[in-house]
Amino acid sequence: MECRTELYAGKAKSVFTTDDPDKLVLRFRNDTSAFDGKKVAQLDRKGMVNNRFNAFIMEKLEATGIPTHHEALLSDNESLVKNLDMLPVECVVRNIAAGSLCKRLGVDEGIDLKPPTFEFFLKNDDLGDPMINEYHIESFGWGKRDEVEAMKVLTFKVNDVLTALFKTAGLLLVDYKLEFGRYHGAIVLGDEFTPDGCRLWDIETREKLDKDRFRQGLGGVVEAYEEVAARLGVNLPSA
Ligand code: TMP
Ligand code: ASP
Repeated sequence: MECRTELYAGKAKSVFTTDDPDKLVLRFRNDTSAFDGKKVAQLDRKGMVNNRFNAFIMEKLEATGIPTHHEALLSDNESLVKNLDMLPVECVVRNIAAGSLCKRLGVDEGIDLKPPTFEFFLKNDDLGDPMINEYHIESFGWGKRDEVEAMKVLTFKVNDVLTALFKTAGLLLVDYKLEFGRYHGAIVLGDEFTPDGCRLWDIETREKLDKDRFRQGLGGVVEAYEEVAARLGVNLPSA
C-alpha cells in the first residue's frame, strides 16, 4: 500500500493517506514522550517493537469480536489501518492504583481496584489531558450518548481479554488508555495498544515493564517492552 501524504504527526506515530480513502498507514517512530510532550527521547527499536506489539494485541482483540482499526502489518514500522473519525477522548481502565490516580486521590500505588475503575480524559496536551465526565462529552459534542456507552463497554471488554492474556505471560495489567473513532457508523478501537499506553508489572516482583520506566528514568525501556513481547510470543526480529 502506497503512502501518499503525511496527514498528521503525533508524538510517537505519524499517519499517512493511501490510495484508498478508507485506509491509512500508521508509522511507529522511535520518538518517546511523556508528561504531555515535556520529556522526549529517541529510543532505538521502539517503533518496530511497538508496531509489532500493537498488531499482535489488535489481532487478539479482533479474534474476540472487538472491532479495531487494524488491517495488516506492512513493515517493521508501519501498519495499515482503517481511516477512523477519532473522538477526542481517552478511555482509561484501572485494575490497580498507579500514576495520576494516586496523585489525584492521595492513594498508595499498588492497591487493587475492585471493581476496576474507569475514567475519561480529554485529548488535549495544552490543557494536560484533563479528566472529563460523560456529560462533558455529550454537552461539548465530542461524542453521542450511545458512543459513550459503546466506548465504555468495549474498553471493559478489552480489560477481560487482556487481563487474562497478560496473566498467561506472568504480567499484571495495571491500567491502560484506549482511543476510539467512528467508522461507517460504528465505534471502533483506534490508536494503539503498546507498553507506551498501559502499565504492566511482573506478577511476582511487581517490576515495571512499561513506559513508567521512561517517565521515572529507570532505564531499560525498550528492553522491558521486548521482554513483555517475548513472554507473549510476539514475533520480533533479533537485535
Ligand atoms: P495516568 O495514570 O497518567 O492517568 O495514565 C493512566 C494510563 O493511561 C497509563 O497506562 C498511561 C495511559 N495514558 C496514556 O498513554 N496517555 C495519556 O495521555 C493518558 C492520560 C494516559
Ligand atoms: N501519554 C503520555 C504520558 O503518559 C503523554 C505524552 O506522551 O506526552 O506521559
